Amino acid sequence: MKKIGIIGAMDEEVQILKSQMQNEKVKTIASMEFHEGILKNHEAVVVRCGIGKVNAAICTQILIDLFDVEAVINTGVAGSLRNEIEIADIVLSTDTQQHDVDATGFGYPVGVIPRMESSIFQADERLITLAKEVCEEVIPEVGVHTGRIVSGDQFISDSGKKTWLVDNFNGYCTEMEGASIAQTAYLNQVPFLIIRAISDKADHSAEMSYKEFEEIAIRNTVKLLNGLVARL
Ligand code: ADE
Repeated sequence: MKKIGIIGAMDEEVQILKSQMQNEKVKTIASMEFHEGILKNHEAVVVRCGIGKVNAAICTQILIDLFDVEAVINTGVAGSLRNEIEIADIVLSTDTQQHDVDATGFGYPVGVIPRMESSIFQADERLITLAKEVCEEVIPEVGVHTGRIVSGDQFISDSGKKTWLVDNFNGYCTEMEGASIAQTAYLNQVPFLIIRAISDKADHSAEMSYKEFEEIAIRNTVKLLNGLVARL
């Protein structure tokens, strides 16, 4: 893979990566700053897309159309949807789905986008394998899980809503961008991987936990990203 796009929703999630870039050029498009340069000897474009699925989808399309990236990696934090997935653990996406798509009134199951072949988008096998290997090497103390990531334009901090998500989607964690990045990459036939570090348990404790653990969660994703980019 020649040039890769790396998307984070928030400044905190991409700040360290941006500071590590060499020969950096910055272009502002759609109110987003695209940082193009060399990261770990690899051509990369690092960008903060802003929070939510619309921002993330627009950003992904720009990376593909205007920066010609050959793969898209999304890094950030997420709320755990499984008891065995602890704070600071890493989740690598096998695939993604949007939990807030609801055409049930038309007879579609929740999460299914009407008139699309699929609503579940598969991440790139090679990126998953490489990311797993890098985790074992650079953050061996951290639990690594590979499974479905579900996204919606909602911060999940309610135990009832979490139970609904668990019951309706086979998700490992929940966040607000991954599945829209995945859908955009799928439509353009570009490989992608969503990498999330767990900052909270997506329940009543989520807001407090998020504030406390966001930093350590991001530190782990940066180590993983550095190792992964160096191997591409
Ligand atoms: N990102 C981190 N934690 C989250 C949560 N609980 N819900 C949605 N997005 C998140």
